[in-house]
Amino acid sequence: MEKLIINGAKKLQGEISVHGAKNSVLPILAATLLIKGISVIHNVPQLTDVDASIRILEYLGAKVKREESTLIVDANEITENTIPEEMMREMRSSIIFLGSLLSRTKEAYICYPGGCDIGIRPIDLHLSSLRKLGAVITENGNCLCCKNQNSHGAKIILTFPSVGATENIIIAAAVSKGKTTIINAAREPEISDLAAFLNSCGAKIFGAGEGTIEIEGVSSLYPCAHSIIPDRVVAATYMSAAAACADELVIKNIRSQHLSPVMPVFMEMGCKLYVDRNDLKIVSPKRLKRVRMIKTMPYPGFPTDCQSVVMAALIKSYGTTVINESIFESRFKHISELNRFGADITVNDRSAIISGVKNIYGANVYCTDLRGGASMVIAALSAEGKSTVGDIYHIDRGYEKIEENLARIGADIKRTDNEKAIEESKKCEIQNG
Ligand code: UD1
Repeated sequence: MEKLIINGAKKLQGEISVHGAKNSVLPILAATLLIKGISVIHNVPQLTDVDASIRILEYLGAKVKREESTLIVDANEITENTIPEEMMREMRSSIIFLGSLLSRTKEAYICYPGGCDIGIRPIDLHLSSLRKLGAVITENGNCLCCKNQNSHGAKIILTFPSVGATENIIIAAAVSKGKTTIINAAREPEISDLAAFLNSCGAKIFGAGEGTIEIEGVSSLYPCAHSIIPDRVVAATYMSAAAACADELVIKNIRSQHLSPVMPVFMEMGCKLYVDRNDLKIVSPKRLKRVRMIKTMPYPGFPTDCQSVVMAALIKSYGTTVINESIFESRFKHISELNRFGADITVNDRSAIISGVKNIYGANVYCTDLRGGASMVIAALSAEGKSTVGDIYHIDRGYEKIEENLARIGADIKRTDNEKAIEESKKCEIQNG
């Protein structure tokens, strides 16, 4: 199994570029099923979750070609309406294929999706919303039989602004009869990106990015080209790495507006932020300050996906920070691993209490989930001595070539599956104490 070997406490410096957003590209790839033609999607990162989406598209009959960061999806012929369980279990986003498959083939046979183990993650809002749009869904154990011969518009009030449910509704309602209104819709930038893609294909979606979205169903969509927005979570991860390990770092290809929920937290830590169009320069103090309180919330609140990486940056801060996780009930699994570096983090119900320590030291840790995995990398980068980070397949779901990108800004990081090298670095870490 591959691991990252990181020799920490090196100053990061220079420029690092942010790739396209995973959480945008996955629903947009699902939405290409609606288009009987060739969709061209630019700025697509090389991630295992993207590969999993491509496998689903190809299984359903689409032809997909990659040319560097562009994906060309030919969904002229869709021959299947079943997604095998092992494909569904590869990622949470597979559930978004339900809306697109129902719209395209009127029938879909799928199982419950997989994804990071960060909570119960039910799909009740997805199913009740699709039912409102006319779908007849029967559950058989872990699998679902869904039919929608008579799709129509509806007024849907979400009891929680679920990102995935909002995406499923938009996709299912884009090509339908009548008007659909989503009340309490998710407002994440990835929702706006999905709507922008579909609107470029002729859909009539109004209000994406706001709490109420209106969709006037159209009879068909036409092909278009679309470029994916930069990944705000990757940007926040690099900001956290810079806060912990750099005097100054320039993060390129960002949308500052999408980072507005996280910027105040970095400023409270004592970082200075300078935005110049699509670049962000972050200048970090010698020692970060604590943040009074961070509470994860739906957008435009502080993103749950950024909680673990910011926590990793705060390990060596001055003072005590409380992070309250209000979105997912078990998104603190990374904490026991972070404490292996010598961090002082305790959990009280849905709050993590981070008491800053002066220094941390290399450790052998495992990724617990995607963003938790990124927090291991940040802690290892700021720790003295060598660390090994295992189960990095979690990281590869959302970060393109993380070790190459970080090495370019001065990190001593390499990926290896050479057991001997891993054992050597573990020994070294034990000797370092
Ligand atoms: C998406 C993101 C994920 C991010 C999350 C919240 C993708 C691929 N993933 O996940 O990175 O952490 O938004 O910003 O875009 N819920 C229900 N019933 C449902 C759906 C959701 O109770 O039918 C609950 C969930 O358990 C969770 C909360 O709503 O507690 C938020 O979930 P949701 O916004 O749906 O997140 P995802 O779309 O799964």
